[in-house]
Amino acid sequence: MTLYDDLHSLLKPPALYERTDAAFWDDEHLSRSMLTAHLDPEFEGASRSFAFMDRSADWIRAAAPPTTHPRLLDLGCGPGLYAERFARAGYAVTGVDLSPRSLDYARRTAGEQGLAIDYRRQNYLELDLDGAFDVAVMIYCDFGALSTDERRIVLRRVRDRLRPGGALVLDVFSRRKLEAFEERTVWEDHPAGGFWNAGPHLEVQRCCRFADAVSLEQIAVIAPEGATSYHLWNTYFTPEALSAELEEAGFEVVELVGDAAGAPLDETSPTIAVVARKHATGADGR
Ligand SMILES: C[S@@+](CC[C@H](N)C(=O)[O-])C[C@H]1O[C@@H](n2cnc3c(N)ncnc32)[C@H](O)[C@@H]1O
Repeated sequence: MTLYDDLHSLLKPPALYERTDAAFWDDEHLSRSMLTAHLDPEFEGASRSFAFMDRSADWIRAAAPPTTHPRLLDLGCGPGLYAERFARAGYAVTGVDLSPRSLDYARRTAGEQGLAIDYRRQNYLELDLDGAFDVAVMIYCDFGALSTDERRIVLRRVRDRLRPGGALVLDVFSRRKLEAFEERTVWEDHPAGGFWNAGPHLEVQRCCRFADAVSLEQIAVIAPEGATSYHLWNTYFTPEALSAELEEAGFEVVELVGDAAGAPLDETSPTIAVVARKHATGADGR
């Protein structure tokens, strides 16, 4: 194999939603990079800015107040930036995430503030919790990072954990955001390490579109110890497509807005946020 062949096999166009075996959310170095990104109050790479989160938590509280929705489930809670805001607003919060590093941070800071948040390390595709929740949130466009089958699975898992009439709040990237997605291949040299690897490495990033409003950022990290590649998928929604998925999963859409802080929705909105409610009885009678 030549270097050329190696590179081509790393950047081979994959099948739709195919992932690589490389650890991502729970990788030692990447989880550190992600936590740093989460905790930057302005940078919007992993979490929204802190100012947006304040407005977002207020909007969610207005849509599903803690007086009528006391038990809140935060899916993909990361280091607890939203979970803490919800706990301070009066919810009993359960946060679920895959990243041990983010959860360690979340538990520590909740403890320091005297906030009784129940953090669980779980894959939300295999959600295994007792009890019922009044509201579930999945914030910062994680829903669109899942494949079509995974989105069905997570909606079923959440629906099973919500009480009848319970609310689900999530956000996705819109088709407008896809219009701005640039197909390109770029490379960067990181002799002193960077986001993807602690040591020297080359990063090759290939951004391409797939049919059905899906994009892929394919990242090859070429380091002296070997090469790794990552596939970051995104599905972009119209309000109709998002509503159809939720309705098929047994939810009624009650509000569609332009972002997770309640901005008006129009054709320029890069995101769509939705408040949906679990039908009192689903198609299967539950
Ligand atoms: C883009 S971040 C958003 C974090 C948080 N919702 C926020 O807005 O600050 C996505 C989070 O989801 C978590 N995550 C990704 N896939 C997951 C899965 N299958 N199960 C549980 N958590 C997951 C990641 O570890 C990460 O903390």
